[in-house]
Amino acid sequence: MSLYKSNEDVELQRESCLMVSKTITEVAKVMKPGITTLSLDVMAEAFIRDNGGLPSCKGYHGFPYSLCISINEQVVHGFPGQYELKDGDLVTIDTVVYKNGFHGDHAYTFIIGETSPEVLDFVRITKESLYVGIQQATTSNRVGDIGYAIEQYTNGQHGYGVVREMVGHGVGKEMHEDPNVPNYGRRGTGKKLQENMVLAIEPMITMGGCDIYTLDDGWTVATEDDSLAAHFEHNVCIKKGSAEILSDFSIIEAAEKANINLNSSYY
Ligand code: MF3
Ligand code: CO
Repeated sequence: MSLYKSNEDVELQRESCLMVSKTITEVAKVMKPGITTLSLDVMAEAFIRDNGGLPSCKGYHGFPYSLCISINEQVVHGFPGQYELKDGDLVTIDTVVYKNGFHGDHAYTFIIGETSPEVLDFVRITKESLYVGIQQATTSNRVGDIGYAIEQYTNGQHGYGVVREMVGHGVGKEMHEDPNVPNYGRRGTGKKLQENMVLAIEPMITMGGCDIYTLDDGWTVATEDDSLAAHFEHNVCIKKGSAEILSDFSIIEAAEKANINLNSSYY
């Protein structure tokens, strides 16, 4: 699969990415204590299909749902179900939409209601690390520069765990394309970044150790030490030498502020 896309392809993919942002926004509008994660999945799937998209996760290697919903110590690939959200939960929504021949893929961690200052800091720093990584996605750099920056910021400066088994990736006609984009690395190593490359950059960070395991459902990945995990993911295209973000967190953040985190000092 080609690493570099035509301008036309990037414009088509931008639409898929925006659909993901809009889907997560719809979910953010209704998230509240007491709501089941399955009801969020049902709503999101209807929204994606109503808008001419397909939920790429559903059926992907047998994954049964449209959203991955990972709660608290769960890192990625959690199953929606009868679990009811409660005050203080960390809820990561990760989803992929296929539209116009391209996938958009992103993830966002919400805090339901109130939590401790330590957890607020943890989620904020994980989110900031995404932008720290994105800043390194330039044509003067290599893939290793992205991971190096994310690891330095989260682990080096703040002592958080960086999940190593799962990584960011190229994204386009396939959900996962070359190159892999780890959240760790060495400066100046790995594939050279070039114009019109589209990357999914996605730090998966824990408040404790970096070890993970997969639950008996065969999908849900959780921290070995039960520490909390957070995960933010954007799709970026390298344009005029630096990263342009194809997804749009501003609409998600507006819904988050209005609905979920009214009283928090997170922002
Ligand atoms: N965005 C996730 C990933 O890249 C979700 C993939 S869909 C799933 O792994 F089916 F694997 F959950
Ligand atoms: Co991804």
